[in-house]
Amino acid sequence: MVQPRIKAPRGTQDFLPDQTRRWQVVERFAREVAALYRFEEIRTPVFEDTALFHRGVGETSDIVTKETYTFTTRGGDDLTLRPEGTAPVVRALLEAGQLDQPGATAKLYYLSTPMLRYERPQAGRYRQHHQFGIEAFGVAAPEQDAECILLQLDFYRRCGLGQLTLHLNSLGDAESKARYGAALRDFFAARIDAISDESKRRLETNPLRILDSKDPRDVAARQGAPANVEFLSDRSRAHFDRVRALLGEMKVDYTLNPGLVRGLDYYTETLWEFEAGGLGAQAAVGGGGRYDNLVETLGGKPTPGVGFGLGLERLLLALEAQGIALPDAYRRPVWVIAQSDKARDACLKLLTELRHAGIAADTDYTGRSVKAQFKLADRARSSHVLIIGDYELEREAVAVKDLETGEQREVERAKVLELFVPHDDGPH
Ligand code: HAM
Repeated sequence: MVQPRIKAPRGTQDFLPDQTRRWQVVERFAREVAALYRFEEIRTPVFEDTALFHRGVGETSDIVTKETYTFTTRGGDDLTLRPEGTAPVVRALLEAGQLDQPGATAKLYYLSTPMLRYERPQAGRYRQHHQFGIEAFGVAAPEQDAECILLQLDFYRRCGLGQLTLHLNSLGDAESKARYGAALRDFFAARIDAISDESKRRLETNPLRILDSKDPRDVAARQGAPANVEFLSDRSRAHFDRVRALLGEMKVDYTLNPGLVRGLDYYTETLWEFEAGGLGAQAAVGGGGRYDNLVETLGGKPTPGVGFGLGLERLLLALEAQGIALPDAYRRPVWVIAQSDKARDACLKLLTELRHAGIAADTDYTGRSVKAQFKLADRARSSHVLIIGDYELEREAVAVKDLETGEQREVERAKVLELFVPHDDGPH
């Protein structure tokens, strides 16, 4: 009986080689750009204590109230699959004692990190997505905000992504945020009948969240809502002005967007989001901001922080939609064919020597004909085919066919390796 097949869970994706090839290219770019800015990699577990996200991301955020995968283990621990990367990074640094010294700084990135959110899947929105993110700790200066934005932009540019819009806003410090919250509460309280039931609740818990509600009633009701820049303290305003001036200095275009609040409660001061053309509704290819109170909220000493997270699925979708081909990272192999049973050992030896010399090489072990193997070699986009048969064994030689020119010649066995240039970072 044929067994029924099991499908991948809703909202998740598999990436087979025609996709992972593209992932590897953007991952290489991410590492290169991060290294240029001297950010170093951090990896944290895929699940964390549930309290981390409640305290870190916020009890009133959609991510925590509606989207977490939370479970109790057999041992009774309350755990949550990581929905975002910032709170875990803070937790890890605190646990390692790296933010304990006064004036401590840290510049970290994470790459292709799976994030799990129980969202309604649609194009560009998944229940598991992967982020490239960076987090910079210990620097309150606006230069750090600008540097993060510039790093993000450099990465997109290196990938070839175009049609980018940078949305920029500032929530200000805790005091500005509180004043703004109160103003929004007054504004929406006067329109209580026009807003959604959920936003009626948000009015009590966090009126800022009404600004990123997708409910059409809330979208209509927030017309004319006060803009937060009007509530910034002098210090926050000066910080924001400086970030804007720095971006101007670096020739980075941006749009001031007073409606940008982003979905995580930890943000303070500068907020930003990049949108890319070609994506439809899920156009946000990455966003970030400052979170100057998060480290303290999670039990550390007051330590400013700023960073971004960007979705790699959306980046790859946007590149495709914009018709941008990534550079081909595929290393063309050489294909080795044993023309007789006697030649099999010699082929295996040659194959191993090639690989040890850093040259990608492949063969067929299933007994296909020479003709069928040439087809395989073509399909693998091989540069050359190396054939060893009884004749070549006798002459201690290899028949080398250049698949580009079609030319075939005999090469001394001892000199075959010299024909090829090793791949500097190993074969792909
Ligand atoms: P976020 O805006 O929630 O921020 O997510 C960052 C990016 O991840 C989004 O702009 C989007 O590209 C991608 N993304 C989010 N949800 C999905 C989804 N369901 N499917 C596909 N892609 C998605 C954060 O997570 C913050 N931790 C970023 C940050 C780091 N802020 C400061 N440091």
